[in-house]
Formats: sequence, C-alpha cells, structure tokens
Amino acid sequence: MGKIETVDLSADLGFAVLKNPVIPASGTFGYGVEFMEFFSLDILGAFILKGIYIDARDGNTPPRIHETAAGLLNSIGLAGPGAEALKGIIKQAAANTKTPIIVNVCGGSDKEYLEVAEIFDAMDEVAMLELNISCPNVKAGGKCPAQDRWHTYRLVKEVRENTKKPLIVKLSPNTHDVPSVAASAEEAGADGISLVNTFLGMAVDLEKRAPVFKNILAGLSGPAIKPLALKHVWDVAQTVSIPVIGIGGITTGRDVLEFILAGASAVQTGTINMVEPCASVRIIAELEETMKELGIKNLNEIKGKLNT
Ligand SMILES: Cc1cc2nc3c(=O)[nH]c(=O)nc-3n(C[C@H](O)[C@H](O)[C@H](O)COP(=O)(O)O)c2cc1C
Repeated sequence: MGKIETVDLSADLGFAVLKNPVIPASGTFGYGVEFMEFFSLDILGAFILKGIYIDARDGNTPPRIHETAAGLLNSIGLAGPGAEALKGIIKQAAANTKTPIIVNVCGGSDKEYLEVAEIFDAMDEVAMLELNISCPNVKAGGKCPAQDRWHTYRLVKEVRENTKKPLIVKLSPNTHDVPSVAASAEEAGADGISLVNTFLGMAVDLEKRAPVFKNILAGLSGPAIKPLALKHVWDVAQTVSIPVIGIGGITTGRDVLEFILAGASAVQTGTINMVEPCASVRIIAELEETMKELGIKNLNEIKGKLNT
C-alpha cells in the first residue's frame, strides 16, 4: 500500500469515540493540570488521573522509584489528596479542556472501591471510570483483586450495578490466567478492559546487601515490559468482545500501531510521560505520519488483524 495524504486517527471504543487512541496512563500524568504548561490537553484522546482513594494518603517511604536497564520500578503506594480534594482538581482540569477525563478508582476494600466509584460517577466533568483492581498491594505480598476471577466478578458487578458511566477495568499481568479474569470482568458488566498494570519485580542494593525498596517488591513499567504487554493484549483481545486498551512500554507511534494490530482499540502512554512530558503529543504526530506512510486510513482497518 502506498503513502496516503489523510488519515482518520479516531478510536472507537463503542461507548465513546476518542479523537485519537492516545491516553496518558494513571499515575504518570498527575491530574492532567500539571501538563497544561507543556501542551494543550485538547490534543489527547483522553487522559487518566492518578489513582484515588477516599482519604488522603502519603504513599510509601522513599525510595519510590528506581531505574532499571530498560524500565522503571515504582513503589509509590498511591499517594494522593483523597476523593473530596480531587473533585476540585477535576473541575479545574475540565474548565481547561473538552478532552474526556477518566478517574482511576482505587480501594483498600470492595466497599471503598464502590464508594470512590459512586463519588466520581456523580460528577458531570468525569467521562469514564477506570477501576484499578490491579495495583499491586505490596504490603499484602503484591496481591490485588485482579488476581482472582471470582473477586473480579463480584467487585466489577457491584460497581457496575451502582454506577452509570462507562466502566473500564484495569487488569494485572501478575496472575497466571489473565484472559479468564478479563472474561469475568466482561461477564460482570465491564464496558472495556485496560491492561497491563505493572509487573511485580525487585531490585537489590549490593552495597547495603538489601532490597532497594522497603516493601521489597515494586512494579516494573517502561520499554522492558512492551513485549509482555503485547502478549497479554493479544490474549485478552481474542477472549473478550468488549474493547481492550493496551498499556505497556509504549514510546512511539509505531508502538501504538503494534498494539492496535494485536487487538487494542486504544492505548495508554505511561512511563514515557515521566521522562518526556510532551511524549504523547509526539506519539500522536508519529502515529499520523506512520499511518500515512503505511497507507492505513483508519485504526479499524488494522485492529486485531495480525497476519499469523
Ligand atoms: C510512577 C507510576 C505510578 C503509577 N500509578 C498508577 C495508578 O495510580 N493507578 C494505576 O492504575 N496505574 C498506575 N501505574 C501504572 C501505569 O498506569 C501503567 O499501567 C504502567 O506503568 C505500564 O505502562 P508503561 O510501561 O507505559 O509505563 C503507575 C505507573 C508508574 C510508573
């Protein structure tokens, strides 16, 4: 296929059509407002806020991040201002952009997940909810609801029955059967699946003969995880019929197209935002250029269409 002049970047999620498929990921894009000095949020397909619990949290004792050969280990512990304070921040972000705002819903218990989801479901400024059932709770040995298909089913069903906005469920790669967890989320009423959250890993400080992180385990992200994430997206896209949003080590426009070919309907950019604040803008421009070069008129044309 030869070069073409115009392409359609829009990403159809079924429950929403985004102007392009690039969505900065939770925890790597603050609350959006911090990035307004670098570029207009209007450029993005959507953006996801850092994970939120009911109460304010300080997060883990430093160090919280550690660079590895091709990725980043983090043990942030989901520091945040709490649900009430976040409402004000969302109003500020919404006053500056029409781009859909997605709230990353967290909980230390099923009851808390539901409470947080209900609070933001009631806000007009919030477009969708992303239920973060995959944040490794390192104090509980890295456990999270997304490691158990029954827990996933119960929790997603309860949140779905009590909220109205589109519900994306964010899955963990730290379990042996990700597709069956995805199927449970779909069965329980999820509108979409996003994956992956970070992979559990660890780092060792040789001089101290100790782990780098107080909690020993941390979450690995960045280019190191891209091939693993692609595999999980491919597996899950073949299992569920709801849209899949691919996440993991995306740093270029070509990466976006690889995830779309593997079955994703949209993607999230994570760690790259922390090293290059305007990365998502560059990635959108590269995506458009690469689509023109490869003669891809729209994303649907290649979604899930890997030649195997
Ligand atoms: C510093 C940091 C904080 C994160 N915080 C959250 C969070 O609050 N909620 C969440 O669902 N994922 C969180 N994540 C996971 C990312 O959203 C994303 O799933 C992961 O980093 C993989 O994408 P990447 O390889 O492009 O970074 C965090 C990741 C990093 C690096």
